[in-house]
Amino acid sequence: MAPEFNYPTEIKGTRKLYSLLKGLKNPLLVITGNHDIAGDNYCIKDSLTNKNFIFSQDKEFTEYILKQNHKNYYKSEIQSITLGKYLGNGLLTNNGKDWLKQRRLIQPGFSKTKIINLVSIMEEEIDKAFQSFKPEQDLDLYDFFHKLAFNIVAKTLFSSDIDENRVKELGKIITEVQEVFAKEVRLPFYSKILKMFGVLDKTLEKSERAKAIIQGVLDKRRSSGEEKNDLLDMLIQTRYEDTQLPMSDEQLVDEMLILFIAGHETTANALSFIFFEIGQNPEAEEKLRKEITEENEMVFTSDSLMKKSFTSNIIKESMRLHSPAWAIDRQALENDSFKEYSWPKDTLIILYITGLHRNPKYWKDPNSFIPERFDDENAKNFAYYPFGAGPRLCIGEHFAMMEMALIIRKFYKKFSFISYQKELEKKALVTLRPTSLKGKLITI
Ligand code: HEM
Repeated sequence: MAPEFNYPTEIKGTRKLYSLLKGLKNPLLVITGNHDIAGDNYCIKDSLTNKNFIFSQDKEFTEYILKQNHKNYYKSEIQSITLGKYLGNGLLTNNGKDWLKQRRLIQPGFSKTKIINLVSIMEEEIDKAFQSFKPEQDLDLYDFFHKLAFNIVAKTLFSSDIDENRVKELGKIITEVQEVFAKEVRLPFYSKILKMFGVLDKTLEKSERAKAIIQGVLDKRRSSGEEKNDLLDMLIQTRYEDTQLPMSDEQLVDEMLILFIAGHETTANALSFIFFEIGQNPEAEEKLRKEITEENEMVFTSDSLMKKSFTSNIIKESMRLHSPAWAIDRQALENDSFKEYSWPKDTLIILYITGLHRNPKYWKDPNSFIPERFDDENAKNFAYYPFGAGPRLCIGEHFAMMEMALIIRKFYKKFSFISYQKELEKKALVTLRPTSLKGKLITI
């Protein structure tokens, strides 16, 4: 009898065992290797958990899942349940009608006009951070960007002063939660050991602590009685269309926590990769400096920051080579098929964005840093999804693009950075991040 479903090439035997074990520490190496062996689509059947995975670095397949047939796909239980139990039920982890209701409430806070009004607050935070630089200073730019991106989210969206120790504490909790989560997801039997030794419960306690810090921000706003006209005020005042009721405090805290996390972590990672690439490519640095000098003060206006430029080409090309969102996962609600492949409901789909962004089928010289490739008029149709696609496209895309352009231009107007690292050690947790970016600051 013919099999009911026609999965893509299955990874089996020792390669499967290798994938499951090595995938814990270095998923990028394993998934890239599997695609090299099996082509742009492959599957792994995990008999331990009884879960079937389809991995893809194919553009059409990616678009089918995220756009054409998005209604058949939820965020996988990896995100909605396993990550959700630590981060709560905010936009990133929510699904279905609840997600749509929340997205409709929050989306207006991220419109282009709202974002444009944030330039001056972003500038203030960036200038303040740059004032701490000392000539010829040694620094870890990854740490620096982490703090800066966090403060920018806190100030722009929640007009909030969170003291430095709380910022550090939140950052530490977020990293620890991601590390435990990555182990829990990638090696299910290991997760039983983690549970036995109380690691999962401790991690849950830490995420409760993170929520308490965020609740503190909310309480401070309420008790101040002040109107700040920021995203937080909008979230407090907004009412659901059907019930005319406000968001519960629990939902508010979950949404704020997700925005804090999604809003700074990926941006800090992307900025570190960008500065690394600029450091490795002196011609690009020179061209960037020329753009900054030629546009003079106009270079910091929202118009200039939002438009296509060499700065935005550098950002896009760095995010092509090092996409902070290295994979996007979904789970099928019903049986489905695409071209010659078919799969049953519950199948987990891992869209491997890192592989898509370096797939030689779509990219000439895929491993080289060539920002000019984004001058192409057809660039919007590239096999390029650093912010996802379809209805669940990143809500903060314009926010992040403007923030990154502003930071790059302000930095390269006055400074340069010489990296001590010729190679970047990367860690793929929920997001892809460098472990550090150490180097020397030069004042021009
Ligand atoms: C370089 C920076 C950023 C990158 C690379 C990035 C990437 C992404 C990606 C790929 C998704 C879609 C995930 C999926 O479909 O499963 C996403 C969703 C999301 N992002 Fe971003 N993001 C960035 C910055 C931001 C910022 C600045 C914010 C908010 C201030 C933000 C908030 C969110 C939220 C709330 C979602 C969930 C949206 C939904 O499902 O409705 N992100 N992001």
